[in-house]
Amino acid sequence: MNDLQLWQKRVAAQTEIILQQKLPQISQEPVVLHEAMRYSALDGGKRLRPLLVWAASQLGDSVQAACEAAMAAVECIHVYSLVHDDMPEMDNDQLRRGKPTCHVQFGDAVALLTGDALQTLAFDILSAATELPAERQLKMVQVLAKASGSLGMAGGQAIDLANVGKDMKQPALEQMHGLKTGALIRAAVQLGGLSCPQITADQLARLDAYAAKLGLAFQVIDDVLDCEADTATLGKTAGKDADNNKPTYVKLMGLQAARKYAEQLVREAVTELAVFDERAQYLRQLAEYVVARNH
Ligand code: IPE
Ligand code: IPE
Ligand code: MG
Ligand code: MG
Ligand code: MG
Repeated sequence: MNDLQLWQKRVAAQTEIILQQKLPQISQEPVVLHEAMRYSALDGGKRLRPLLVWAASQLGDSVQAACEAAMAAVECIHVYSLVHDDMPEMDNDQLRRGKPTCHVQFGDAVALLTGDALQTLAFDILSAATELPAERQLKMVQVLAKASGSLGMAGGQAIDLANVGKDMKQPALEQMHGLKTGALIRAAVQLGGLSCPQITADQLARLDAYAAKLGLAFQVIDDVLDCEADTATLGKTAGKDADNNKPTYVKLMGLQAARKYAEQLVREAVTELAVFDERAQYLRQLAEYVVARNH
């Protein structure tokens, strides 16, 4: 394992422990809902968003409790988005993170509620970490709320569904990807930065420029892998975008051009970090990982 892989493993393990603690226990009623929340959130996924929170938090003297809360909160929102994304009314997927999807395992009604409960848990976690000044903490709550809602992830998902079977032009596709996937990735990076009391507005703006490029690149590669990779490697059913006639970068420009575009976006993302010293090393490395990953 190289340095990045070791670091990723360590922070992913830390994320797992934080989530283990913050998610309701299954000894608590309602047992089925808590089971479904833990089933969906624990022991799986690349944990890219918590990794980004952590990596951005290294730019200053981060307040650890606030950083950890943000790591868990952003992952809860992400998992909620996956649970709903997989439901029959949306992408109708049976496999997620190498396991049956939440609605396959627990039924549609429980899956709906699992998403609902994970979404509110995210804000519960974020608002419970009161180690930062209240104003800063409120800002963090707002960043996550905006990124999750109709002008962020949920909005992007709505655009995605409205365009099944249609040909989207690049600007519209870019906007959709930027919302459904980019918004939460941007929020993760902002939250990591905001967990550092001394971070400046200019630094936050640089981080956001990096994250916007990275978020788009991440979804372009998700589109590429849906075509290129196999189900076992992905842990989700390969070839679903074509089956569902989804608007993707592969459909727009073909596999090779889509991959090249993502590589270009990542180079641009890394350029935005030029103002930072070696403390941005993990952000730089994560950007490379986003295009190099195989799942
Ligand atoms: C999948 O996200 C859904 C998208 C937003 C593209 P990830 O590829 O980060 O999924 P996990 O968390 O690793 O399972
Ligand atoms: C999902 O995009 C974005 C989300 C907000 C979950 P996809 O529908 O392409 O994600 P996968 O491929 O199912 O993980
Ligand atoms: Mg989808
Ligand atoms: Mg999907
Ligand atoms: Mg996909």
